[in-house]
Amino acid sequence: MPTTSTSTIQRQANASVANLTDYDAALLNFSWHAAADELLDTFADGSLNITYNCIDRHAEGDRADKTALIFEQSNGEHEQYTFRDLKKLTNQFSNVLADLSVKKGDRVFVFLPTIPERYIAFLGILKLGAVAGTMFAAFQEDALLDRLGDSEASVIVTSPELYPRIKNIQDKLPALNQIIIVGRGQYVIPAGKGIISYNDAMDAASESFEPAHMQNDEYSYMLYTSGTTGKPKGIVHAHYDILQAMVTTKYVLDLRDSDIYWCTADIGWVTGVVYGTLGVWGLGGTNVIYEGRFSPENWYDVLEKHHVSVWYSAPTAIRMLMASATNPKSYDLHNLRHLASVGEPLNPEAIWWGLDVFGLAFHDTWWQTELGAIAVTNLPALDIKPGSMGKPLPGIEVAILDDAGNVLPDGEQGNLALRASTVSSLMKTVWGNPVKFDSYFKGEWYISGDSAVRDSDGYYWFIGRTDDLINTSGERVGPFEVESALVEHPAVVEAGVIGKPDKLRGEIIKAFVVLQDGIEPDEDMKHTLQQHVKHHLAGHAYPREIDFIDHLPKTRSGKIMRRVLKAQELGLPTGDTSTLESY
Ligand code: WT7
Repeated sequence: MPTTSTSTIQRQANASVANLTDYDAALLNFSWHAAADELLDTFADGSLNITYNCIDRHAEGDRADKTALIFEQSNGEHEQYTFRDLKKLTNQFSNVLADLSVKKGDRVFVFLPTIPERYIAFLGILKLGAVAGTMFAAFQEDALLDRLGDSEASVIVTSPELYPRIKNIQDKLPALNQIIIVGRGQYVIPAGKGIISYNDAMDAASESFEPAHMQNDEYSYMLYTSGTTGKPKGIVHAHYDILQAMVTTKYVLDLRDSDIYWCTADIGWVTGVVYGTLGVWGLGGTNVIYEGRFSPENWYDVLEKHHVSVWYSAPTAIRMLMASATNPKSYDLHNLRHLASVGEPLNPEAIWWGLDVFGLAFHDTWWQTELGAIAVTNLPALDIKPGSMGKPLPGIEVAILDDAGNVLPDGEQGNLALRASTVSSLMKTVWGNPVKFDSYFKGEWYISGDSAVRDSDGYYWFIGRTDDLINTSGERVGPFEVESALVEHPAVVEAGVIGKPDKLRGEIIKAFVVLQDGIEPDEDMKHTLQQHVKHHLAGHAYPREIDFIDHLPKTRSGKIMRRVLKAQELGLPTGDTSTLESY
């Protein structure tokens, strides 16, 4: 059962969120159509464009000279861009792509560190009507090949430092014909097939561009995310997704025109796309992006220096801040006004800590890559029950279902499901995999893969995943990808990978490895395998713990029984093992 807490935190006195101050009234009055009328700009023919809504309309109106982007560099310097600047730059980038014959629907991927060009490229792709894919800069060749290969991307935008990883896999990517290299400061554009200098191309590009007119359900961005089986899947979203991003940024994150906003997520992940880009700029907000690495001192410096008032972060980071000797009270953070968190369960201690050091409660928000925006949450207008994810966003219908699809009564644990038609920003498809897409649905319900329980006050409490997906520091990792990376190493016969509960990271990745005969199962071998996964898959997706075992528990059909490995690891009963091959 969830950690229940007897104490409830009364809603903030300053929660002046327009029509959502009264949750129950909002439930009755909310309509997506009304929200669209209030927040979206469409073209005369009824079509729309995300980048027009995020940038152009502000650049053409009162916010033209408002700071849209504050870029805090890792060297402590910073740059600022207005909406007028971003309109010009995204126009130029759309023209760069048009000159390369990129068309509506083509896939263009951005593989850059956190620099403004990452956002300019992303928005320029959408402005042209191409499908934008983002990738985390820590991805290595296996992860890149999966994504670029499956999507058949024709163009990638990258940096001189990251380009060698692309170069090494380029001959396995027949569709990839242009590589745009973004240099900053001192840089050399490498020589290679299909290479274009971003700076040269931008200089030559026209500053005007007419945004593509996109139908509501035409594709905007795609993000690869891990499943429990097979390679990562390309979750595809539409241009209309901007609506739920804006509704939630306004009513859940409580963003107002005067705010300075910082979402700490990388745009290689969905939170960085939706809340680091679409929501804040849709509303014409000032957005901080930070190039440097996480450390409590660095983060508090960013909050202080840029007078951040709305801050959206994640539980692992909050727990790291809590564990640090650096005292946030020694910084001037009086501008902070609203705090929110996403990605993993937010433990009550983190909420109590926030109240102590910032005088503010972190508001938990729950959603998924597939959903495209926050769906269950602690609205500023609601009392917080620490440990609960809160209530459904008005407009969205949520239920707890049994495995047959029946709605369960309050207090019973089951599958957290959403009525698909009520989630405005729900994914449109899984790239090239309609079978996978269909598998998410049971009748009218979208099944999230999480289990949860609803209490008698209508609050939802997260229990866990119903499958083997791993959530480490808020990042979703599929066990199959890590197993595949491990078995690529010649010393490994096979491997089973699980998420092991961890106080700081939520879960860590743990691997059970069967070695080839004659290989020494020692600490050196563990280190070798960890490095192997880091260098082939991604820096964050390596197993922090490895156990060498003689054989893996498998079903008679040969499937690794990860739940048995997990139960053994946790000292729990292994459950029904009758289908096991040898146990
Ligand atoms: C999975 C989705 C969408 C933002 C980042 C993650 C877990 C997400 C919470 C929360 C407990 C959470 C779920 C979900 N998760 N938010 N507030 N409390 N768990 O997106 O990578 O698609 O992962 O993250 O298990 O299914 P994602």
